[in-house]
Amino acid sequence: MPRPLVVDVHTHVYPPSYMAMLRARKTVPYIHDPVSGDPRLIILSSDDDPSIPIDERGRPVDTSYSDINVKLTFMQQHGIDSSVISLANPWLDFLDPSEAQQWAERINNDLEETCAQNNKSTGPDNALPLQERSTLFAFATLPLSAPSADIIVNEIKRLKTLPHIRGVIMGTSGLGNGLDDEKLGPVWAALEETQFLLFLHPHYGLPDEAFGGAEVTKRYGHVLPLALGFPLETTIAVTRMLLSRVFDSFPRLQILLAHSGGTLPFLAGRIESCIVHERKFVQNGGDVPGPQRSIWDVLKTNIFLDAVVYGTPGLKAAVAAGGTDRLMFGTDHPFFPPLDESEKEWISVTTNYKAIDANFEGEKETVAAVLGGNAARILKLE
Ligand code: URA
Ligand code: ZN
Repeated sequence: MPRPLVVDVHTHVYPPSYMAMLRARKTVPYIHDPVSGDPRLIILSSDDDPSIPIDERGRPVDTSYSDINVKLTFMQQHGIDSSVISLANPWLDFLDPSEAQQWAERINNDLEETCAQNNKSTGPDNALPLQERSTLFAFATLPLSAPSADIIVNEIKRLKTLPHIRGVIMGTSGLGNGLDDEKLGPVWAALEETQFLLFLHPHYGLPDEAFGGAEVTKRYGHVLPLALGFPLETTIAVTRMLLSRVFDSFPRLQILLAHSGGTLPFLAGRIESCIVHERKFVQNGGDVPGPQRSIWDVLKTNIFLDAVVYGTPGLKAAVAAGGTDRLMFGTDHPFFPPLDESEKEWISVTTNYKAIDANFEGEKETVAAVLGGNAARILKLE
């Protein structure tokens, strides 16, 4: 069997135009340039703690966030053939409604151009197999704060004309009220119609109180918000979609959940059991319409999971919930770089590679599917 194709479906960029916008801001999200040392990225609300000197807030941000050549080098160093790049959090969520459409078009055009320029170097007929060219595709971003859903829908339709766009990335706030907001109906309908994959990614985490208060959160840096806040945020968001019957109304909606679905695969049985025992729902004698489709059906029909879970127990839950043909390799680059900058190999990446190898030991075809075959098929990368 030839070397398997490796596709990274979870890899972010902040295009230079977005970096410049963050640099011009003084409230979250923003970039601060200290007099000496690396610029700092302050994007999580817990990062912007006035008791921390501004030069130390957030995390260092270097060219790996915005320079596509740095990403291409990272890909080469980690055996990645194709990357589906997406704007990193918090996307355009915070923009004034009057600016959302223009910024979405600008960022999406930047992403498209980055992919087109890079892929051009592979020759006009793309005769080489995907393994032998380093290619880029993209998940676009949506103007979710725009004054009307029509603007979002129109952007989805415009994206269909951009050849390297394979879907859209979105956070969990939707139009501001979460993903069970019925005003999102036209957006789900447009995604369903275009069959664009929706990459659902966390940003807001959980309130500090969930971790014992701001002091506790701060004590452990980013560990509690990123290790626990992010996955639970994703789990809550997709469960709200299920409960509000989004998957009943839009049965062809296709969603890729970040970080192997947060904790959804592990908690699916409990969620389903709570639904079955909830007296509020019409099917159980109440007066609130509950979800008609089971979570197990949704997991096997509407949901894809990335393999960014850093261990075999998480992978086993993902596979048990969705199957091996719905699981796709990712890195979360440029987040989680090695703390020792001289290390070329990122432990955050090798941990995921090793977990995949260990989980599917001896099953070469499954490993190849998870590393890239599934992504190539699902995202039509050929
Ligand atoms: N931290 C973030 O803010 N975003 C990611 O995607 C990963 C880590
Ligand atoms: Zn990510």
